[in-house]
Amino acid sequence: MGRFITFEGVEGCGKTTQIKLLAQHLTERGETVVVTREPGGCPIADQARAILLDAANRAMTPTAELLLYAAARAQHVQEIVKPALAAGKIVLCDRFTDATIAYQGCGRGLDLATIAYLNELATGGLKPQLTLLLDCPVEVGLRRALDRINGRSGAREERFELESVLFHQKVRDGYLKLAENEPERFIVIDGSRQVQETEAAVAEAVMARLAEG
Ligand code: TMP
Repeated sequence: MGRFITFEGVEGCGKTTQIKLLAQHLTERGETVVVTREPGGCPIADQARAILLDAANRAMTPTAELLLYAAARAQHVQEIVKPALAAGKIVLCDRFTDATIAYQGCGRGLDLATIAYLNELATGGLKPQLTLLLDCPVEVGLRRALDRINGRSGAREERFELESVLFHQKVRDGYLKLAENEPERFIVIDGSRQVQETEAAVAEAVMARLAEG
């Protein structure tokens, strides 16, 4: 069985950059790494992603949103994550079930027991061995995220970036609470620093956990 490592954090916390850097680092050490993301990671879930993040879909209800995340996850876990783990690979996943608790639960205020049920249904009980929470103030993250959006053309994946600062604050608080409740799974890393500083902290934390077995 491989290792399942997830990355979480508010918009612009730097997780996508850090996943790429960690994947390089692990590959250089001879590990076989699969990098994937949610929502998405396979063609069917990528289609759900396009609907979920389209800035034109302002009319989407919170319940429709929750169910689409669950549907995308069910497909992704079955098609990508479980086979990779069964083949002994290290799976690095950009967001997973904790994102649904933080965004749809703490951000939108949907029922946490329903979310727990849907997470269980979609994953068949699969849990990450390790979750890196890249924490940063929402103002810092949103500034980075908006700079990225302004420099990009093509699909407008910004439905969440357009939410209020208060919404993102609730998401951040939700993530910090999850980390506090499960200290053996979470590592919280300051994501507001320069890329290289965060990279070193991530590599150190992951290597230490992998060495523990
Ligand atoms: P990304 O920008 O990190 O790729 O994430 C896409 C967006 O989807 C981000 O705004 C967070 C949101 N999201 C949820 O609201 N719930 C979820 O379960 C997941 C996986 C992502």
